[in-house]
Amino acid sequence: MLAPAGLPDSHARWWYMSARSGWISAVMYWYKAVTAQGGYGSSMATSSQGNRRAVKVSWATYRESIGDRSPLFAEVARAWAPKRALYAGSYVDLSPATAIPAVTFLDMDRRAAKYFAESDLVASELEGRVAPKQTPEVDFVQGVYTAPLDVPEQGFDLLISLYAGPVWDHCQQYLVSGGLLLANTSHGDASIAALDPRLTLVGVVQHRDGVWTLSDSALDEYLIPKKPALADADLIRADGRGLSYTKRAWAYLFQLE
Ligand SMILES: C[S@@+](CC[C@H](N)C(=O)[O-])C[C@H]1O[C@@H](n2cnc3c(N)ncnc32)[C@H](O)[C@@H]1O
Repeated sequence: MLAPAGLPDSHARWWYMSARSGWISAVMYWYKAVTAQGGYGSSMATSSQGNRRAVKVSWATYRESIGDRSPLFAEVARAWAPKRALYAGSYVDLSPATAIPAVTFLDMDRRAAKYFAESDLVASELEGRVAPKQTPEVDFVQGVYTAPLDVPEQGFDLLISLYAGPVWDHCQQYLVSGGLLLANTSHGDASIAALDPRLTLVGVVQHRDGVWTLSDSALDEYLIPKKPALADADLIRADGRGLSYTKRAWAYLFQLE
């Protein structure tokens, strides 16, 4: 089973686990993989001398695992200019804050909470990466998105769901009418969204050779299941993984009616 083109190694393995065993096993695998790379929380990394040292979690170290998605969010901002984003299951992927004026990051992981509590570190990691004259507003909510969240209903015009489980099922009430959902198929979220009649596909994201693109061309060629009989939201939820499509994208941008 081949992972989609353009995935960094850690996410290719993550995608493979999701596809094989569902997203809960994949979350556990991801924890181990990121920890081993020294990119996770107060984990330990081994130096070339064999000494073990504590590694401080940061977006910089996490980027070494997942790459920099700032150009992706620059594309979304250029095309749609969203003002307020909710990123559920963000861990410390700070990239949306480089392009979107206000971003609420949300994760259940206490190490993500610890990172975002260090506002000086967050500010320094954004320095020089944000459009001139833009002062990014960054909030963090520690919580489980399957429970009610302390954020305003319909308070966001972009909901981000990347490799973090069934966000659309649990967070759609926070998206304003006409707002956008950016989701991938990793845990079935984009596949569930594709079956929601209130959502329209308005863009596809591709990531090839380090270049991010957001396109609205030939959208009717996407989200066509290879096995139409599996295109059932409850089956996808139970399976915890997305459908295979005749033409793939890295992620999909939907608009809520
Ligand atoms: C594989 S990581 C992906 C992080 C980031 N979205 C990315 O693409 O690099 C999944 C993250 O989702 C978080 N997560 C999973 N289920 C969650 C839930 N129900 N509520 C809050 N966070 C959750 C995990 O704690 C973890 O940080």
